[in-house]
Amino acid sequence: MLNILKVDHEAQFNDIGAGIVASLLQTRPQAALGLATGSTPVGIYRRLVELYREGSVNFSQARTYNLDEYVGLPADHPQSYRQFMEEHLFRHVNILPHNTYIPSGSENPEAAVTEYDRLLEQAGPLDLQILGLGHNGHIGFNEPANKLHSRTHIVALDDRTREANARFFRSPDEVPTHAITMGIASILHAKQILLMAKGEDKAEIVARALKGPLTTHCPASLLQTHPNVTILVDAKAGRFI
Ligand code: F6R
Repeated sequence: MLNILKVDHEAQFNDIGAGIVASLLQTRPQAALGLATGSTPVGIYRRLVELYREGSVNFSQARTYNLDEYVGLPADHPQSYRQFMEEHLFRHVNILPHNTYIPSGSENPEAAVTEYDRLLEQAGPLDLQILGLGHNGHIGFNEPANKLHSRTHIVALDDRTREANARFFRSPDEVPTHAITMGIASILHAKQILLMAKGEDKAEIVARALKGPLTTHCPASLLQTHPNVTILVDAKAGRFI
């Protein structure tokens, strides 16, 4: 079932997104959370940090599993997704470092793929998977293709994805060409999914993902098969839905 929440203001967007995470942790403190990086969830993480400081949310027993990581960037590289998570969430809340899992893309990516699948299997279905949405319909870094992978794998990033992410790097050439990502089956295995999108530039792909045909050429369209998806959009991204 797709539950669409369309909001007018950034603050509402962040309150609702953070509220979903916070209420899950209130009822299930040991929840396993699937996390995303990118611009869209930044305000939600900021709000979660505020809720933590107010005493409304507690991460001490939570476990987190990030969707993806660049291949070739060491964990302490400023643009690695590990650093992103530290900067926007982990270092500001009481999550235990050993409960934060992110594929490690620097030394031996093939071994990291196997290890991440082992960790996900051990975790069982994630209680909540947070997703952003790529302009090409990617979720995690499952890029449009004739075939999609079900489990964790190494992926060559689309030119469009590299261009979109170049804003975080000093030059577009520095954007890694490959990433490790959770696969589609692992994403769909989560008990609950929160897909978020903001801005005019996402309006068309949001509509294709939610109302278009199910196709591997728009990986997010496969979310239509999941029984519990919440779509959180601002008015601009939700223009066609
Ligand atoms: C990030 C991720 C990506 C992003 C997507 C949207 O971990 O898996 O799928 O969610 O590229 O990125 P933003 O939010 O920057 O538009």
